[in-house]
Amino acid sequence: MTVSGPENAAPILTIRNLKKSFGENTVLTGFNLTVNKGENVVVLGRSGTGKSVLIKCIVRLIDPDDGEINVLGKEILKLDPEPLDVMRARIGFLFQSSALYDSMTVEENLEFPLRRHLRKHIKYDVEKLVKDALESVRLDGTQKMSPAELSGGMRKRIGIARTLILNPEVMLYDEPTTGLDPITAREINHLMLEVQEKFKTTSIIISHDMNCVRMTANRVVVLIEGKCYAEGSYDDLKKSQDKHVKQFFD
Ligand SMILES: Nc1ncnc2c1ncn2[C@@H]1O[C@H](COP(=O)(O)OP(=O)(O)OP(=O)(O)O)[C@@H](O)[C@H]1O
Ligand SMILES: [Mg+2]
Repeated sequence: MTVSGPENAAPILTIRNLKKSFGENTVLTGFNLTVNKGENVVVLGRSGTGKSVLIKCIVRLIDPDDGEINVLGKEILKLDPEPLDVMRARIGFLFQSSALYDSMTVEENLEFPLRRHLRKHIKYDVEKLVKDALESVRLDGTQKMSPAELSGGMRKRIGIARTLILNPEVMLYDEPTTGLDPITAREINHLMLEVQEKFKTTSIIISHDMNCVRMTANRVVVLIEGKCYAEGSYDDLKKSQDKHVKQFFD
């Protein structure tokens, strides 16, 4: 399967010289990346190399030590709390753990970001927004269920629906297929392609699942020692003779 590339290349997200250490533990050492409009970029890296740290920096769940992050024309690291909150509503984040609240129903989980981010003076049909978001992930009808009653794949879908409800322009997916069986993982990969197509989102997908990379990536970036070590299409990187790149494909 080939992944069609975006037609209009314009940068939506630019990361320059990003650095982050936790005490002695140096994680990001000058990471650079540009993601163009409509593109799915997969960041590939071994466990513990800083993939989650990287995308948490983009929404400032983690504050980096140095560097610049520009998303949709805004310098994220310079934003005050209020405009940062507005930007966060434009960036969908699928957490590695799905991060659903088991004490709330599916419907309440989806309403949560709405209540936080929607403007007070506009009247929204919340029920319809929830239904539409659930339909996009083919889980309409689960509104009254608890996330604890759902399978891992369904939880991922609900996590995606919860981000889609705010109509994000950028999506950050952290290990969307990890822990899922191959068939469910493939469904999630298809869903991410559908989201890209239908909502015209620009995405960073963190993964070390090579099927996910092959199916979803317009471009692949290899994160090694805190930097972008190599980048290219899946097919380009698959042909690489570099031993660090080859290990992902063996
Ligand atoms: N909040 C934190 N405080 C201290 N250290 C952290 C914090 N978050 C991450 N780290 C450290 O940063 C490094 C990178 O972690 P990160 O979660 O980004 O790895 P990862 O590439 O996402 O791995 P995995 O594939 O297992 O999810 C690890 O050494 C981790 O211990
Ligand atoms: Mg991670």
